[in-house]
Amino acid sequence: METIRLFYYILGGIFTLWLLAKVYRRLQLSRAKHRSLAGHSRWARRFAALVPYYEYSEEQFFAADDAPPDIVKQRRDGFARLADLYAQRFTKTAALTKEVTDGISDMQFTSRYRVPYQFSRYVRERLRGGSFVQSSHGVMVKDLDGNELYDLTGSYGVNVFGYDFYKECIERGNERVRELGPVLGALHPVVGYNVKRLREISGLDEVSFHMSGTEAVMQAVRLARYHTKRTHLVRLCGAYHGWWGDVQPGPGNPQTAHETYTLSDMSDATLTVLRIRKDIACVLVNPLQALHPNSGAPGDSTLVDSSRSAHYNRAAYTHWLKQLREVCTQKNIVLIFDEVFVGFRLAPGGAQEYFGIKADMVTYGKTLGGGLPIGALCGRKDLMKRFREDRPADICFARGTFNSHPYVMASTYEFLQRLESDQVKNIYANLDVTWNARAAKLNARLREAQLPVQVANLSSIFTVMYTEPSRYNWMLQFYLRAQGLALSWVGTGRFIFSLNYSDADFAAVVDRMINGAQAMQRDGWWWRDSLLTNKMIKRRILKELLSHLF
Ligand SMILES: Cc1ncc(COP(=O)(O)O)c(C=O)c1O
Repeated sequence: METIRLFYYILGGIFTLWLLAKVYRRLQLSRAKHRSLAGHSRWARRFAALVPYYEYSEEQFFAADDAPPDIVKQRRDGFARLADLYAQRFTKTAALTKEVTDGISDMQFTSRYRVPYQFSRYVRERLRGGSFVQSSHGVMVKDLDGNELYDLTGSYGVNVFGYDFYKECIERGNERVRELGPVLGALHPVVGYNVKRLREISGLDEVSFHMSGTEAVMQAVRLARYHTKRTHLVRLCGAYHGWWGDVQPGPGNPQTAHETYTLSDMSDATLTVLRIRKDIACVLVNPLQALHPNSGAPGDSTLVDSSRSAHYNRAAYTHWLKQLREVCTQKNIVLIFDEVFVGFRLAPGGAQEYFGIKADMVTYGKTLGGGLPIGALCGRKDLMKRFREDRPADICFARGTFNSHPYVMASTYEFLQRLESDQVKNIYANLDVTWNARAAKLNARLREAQLPVQVANLSSIFTVMYTEPSRYNWMLQFYLRAQGLALSWVGTGRFIFSLNYSDADFAAVVDRMINGAQAMQRDGWWWRDSLLTNKMIKRRILKELLSHLF
């Protein structure tokens, strides 16, 4: 009897210990989530599903901050002038955009979310800039009306060296593989050089080619799960890794990503979770987050007030990566650098070289294809293997019809060859010094002109911050376009410069930014009284949401 009782005590004790350990791990996981909604993907999705649509009347549009009548008039007049200018200057570009938007889902989506949705329709119907361009040269693009615009879109980050560079990669590449044409499966010999160079650049053993950055990330995570036999991936709050479901657990993905942990960036609590959990296969790092840890891409639709801040601290981020590296090594967690965006922009050896940290796997894409679509994964030999010697049926599958397409491989070849030239090596020399000085110059000019705008930068990637509370920051993108500055669809939140911007080009952009921001200021959009705070703006929007919900 005593023995049975003892047995139950021991069993109960073990169960209690197991339960306590589980509760402890769960608590640590909660602690490692960023306090923002972005740190709580499921809640963010539930919340997003509840947000009701409503839009402002014309009257509310100009007085969403309770501005006095003279300011409202200033805004109305300014808006009308801008609409006239757009109608005259972007006639053909806007006409074609209008004609085809109905049939292009992507355009409907991007045009809708350029500004907060309460203001969106009014703007869409009146400020038609259009989405078409016909040519590019130097740092400029030309629209269908012949307007030349300074390109600040960076083509989603692809354009590192200037469009002429990529035209050359594509043209020379085409010549190289013309005789083979679009034969798939068998490889063109240029692939050999690409693999050799990528192994050198990444310092890793093997390479696989894919058709997009998203697919390279998918493959990295799949292999990490296969080799570690663990289920979960860790992504750091705010980071973008493509549009595959597991790396996009929040709004935008209708399904729950059950095997993804979204943890705080640059946080000791995250390191603790990595130390104590047994189910983590890999950690994904997008080094772009160094500029704005724990927050997402700065789209105008999310800039509903001016509370967003950004600051890049190279030493602090390097220290964080070192800590991550150590924990991942100790716990056999695969450390994946997703360099699809920043690879080749920061240094010839990418973020690994720039921060001096070695990853177990690295994904590249965008610019690597020399202007054509690509994704590439480099990794340690043991992690890249897709089969087991001792279990022949247990494989890790990856395909893709257009992987290693000859034309893509040839423009990649041209890209990688040019990286070795003295001309490109010189571009990388003093890169940060150059771009930090440029950002500082822009900030000084903005301050001198007493404009409520500043930028923060990670090398040639700039993000815009607004220093005074306002409901109209998103209007800046339209004033900047009127000044001949082309921004990406996320609007005024991000400028991506190509490295062929000369000092004179940059100075011209600064002048135009100042002119655009001054015009916006003159038109009264940045008026504020002491009652207008970021907190008050948020509270007001919440009230509006609730009143439209119930
Ligand atoms: C860091 C990062 N990873 C992955 C992707 C996805 O690449 P793609 O758009 O080629 O699928 C992107 C795209 O912006 C990215 O910035």
